Amino acid sequence: MDGGRLGPKDLKTLLGEWETSGQSAYQALADRIRLLIIDGRIPSRTKLPAERELADTLEKSRTTIVSAYGALKNTGHLVSQRGSGSVVALPHHANPPTTSPQTHLVDFARAAPAAISGLETIIQRATQHLPQVLSKTGFDLIGSPALRDRIAQHYSSRNLPTTPGQIMITLGGQHALALIARTFVRQADRVLVESPTYPHALDAFRLSGGRLVTTPVTSAGWDPDRLRDTFERVRPSLAYLIPDFHNPTGASMPPDVRSDVVERARRAGTVLVIDETTADLDLGRGWTDVPFAARADGVRTLTVGSLGKSVWGGLRIGWIRADDDVIGSLHAARAAGDLGTPELEQLVAAEVFEDYDALVQRRIAQLRHHRDVLTRELRERLPQWDVPVPDGGTSLWLGLGAPISSALALFGLTRGVSIIAGPRFGVDGAFERFIRIPYTGPVDQLTRGVHLLADTAQSLPALPAGRAAPHLADVV
Ligand SMILES: Cc1ncc(COP(=O)(O)O)c(C=O)c1O
Repeated sequence: MDGGRLGPKDLKTLLGEWETSGQSAYQALADRIRLLIIDGRIPSRTKLPAERELADTLEKSRTTIVSAYGALKNTGHLVSQRGSGSVVALPHHANPPTTSPQTHLVDFARAAPAAISGLETIIQRATQHLPQVLSKTGFDLIGSPALRDRIAQHYSSRNLPTTPGQIMITLGGQHALALIARTFVRQADRVLVESPTYPHALDAFRLSGGRLVTTPVTSAGWDPDRLRDTFERVRPSLAYLIPDFHNPTGASMPPDVRSDVVERARRAGTVLVIDETTADLDLGRGWTDVPFAARADGVRTLTVGSLGKSVWGGLRIGWIRADDDVIGSLHAARAAGDLGTPELEQLVAAEVFEDYDALVQRRIAQLRHHRDVLTRELRERLPQWDVPVPDGGTSLWLGLGAPISSALALFGLTRGVSIIAGPRFGVDGAFERFIRIPYTGPVDQLTRGVHLLADTAQSLPALPAGRAAPHLADVV
């Protein structure tokens, strides 16, 4: 299958500020392209630009490009295909080393907490209903009536009247987004996204052929004028927003900006996709609001929810709330991708909703503590970094003060910490001066991770010029 072609200008944009003082140009280029491949910004099977074209665009010698491509071929990240040139691959390690530092990596890449305490008891309670599930097929495309009813009640109790017919149960929030993208985004549709945003949503909208248009978000929030202007100028078919404890910045959209978004969407005929995966993780915002959809009268709004952050991602239970006819379209489209959500997990999820508020309070207390530990460690060990403290969500979005995010991700791996480079959260190579660190892991891992990051950051400028710097190729 063809993975498309990446033009030299697009590759240059993705590369961002790739040259480092401590490495030869070909090594730095190979390492940066390798990172783009590993973190998914250059998909497998993509054809890279011809060597001469890239040399001209980057204003480097052809030898530099040939050597960089050669290094990528040596590590299996690039293959030569007759008639197609150099094509991206992800090397498959049949026998991954078992004793390398990778096995003890601190995971700062995923913002996914372990199960909330008390879930075990809930699972035991749920198994009392096991015979009901075992006597049937045990999976279905729309969701069990009991769970859809519980989730509908949950919205209704928060001032958003909802019927079970307006709910579809999905395999987590990501599946919901992918299904929405596949069902409602057509080739070349304009899709408004925040920048930065949750990277796998970008992947889903891109995969459906959407043309991504961005509106900026910082730790201080949205720029209402830019947001308004983008709706007017672009008239997007769909807008994907994370208004509560936005991933990765942690920002929340003020109620007046929400109303404004609804008004602009109404005028532009935009479908709103509101991701509330992190919306319950309020660590002290100081205000609450009705669910976004309660303000969106007359505007087609699809709300995505999930138990992934508040309870446990291992359940893979998410949902979509939308008008009945939208749920009908999603239902019709779903079987092409999967045949439904397991009823066993839905049994557990229905029980979870019996105790939901208490479980969320427990998660909030835990995340608040973890956020504070991480903030303290970072301010102590990396005082030169800007560490805004979010009032909710799962992660910190840090300003590094220098364009070193990809280098940190690259060399962090050699030191035992995996982290996603800032540009993965954007669409055009931006955010090289930012990095996201989740506070979802255990406290000892947060502390160790910050030590390793501080070590990595310190070693970056000290790499002696021309010397064989630690290569990503050596660890991946
Ligand atoms: C904003 C956002 N949406 C969706 C997801 C996916 O959640 P799930 O684990 O339920 O698939 C995540 C997970 O990180 C997220 O941060």
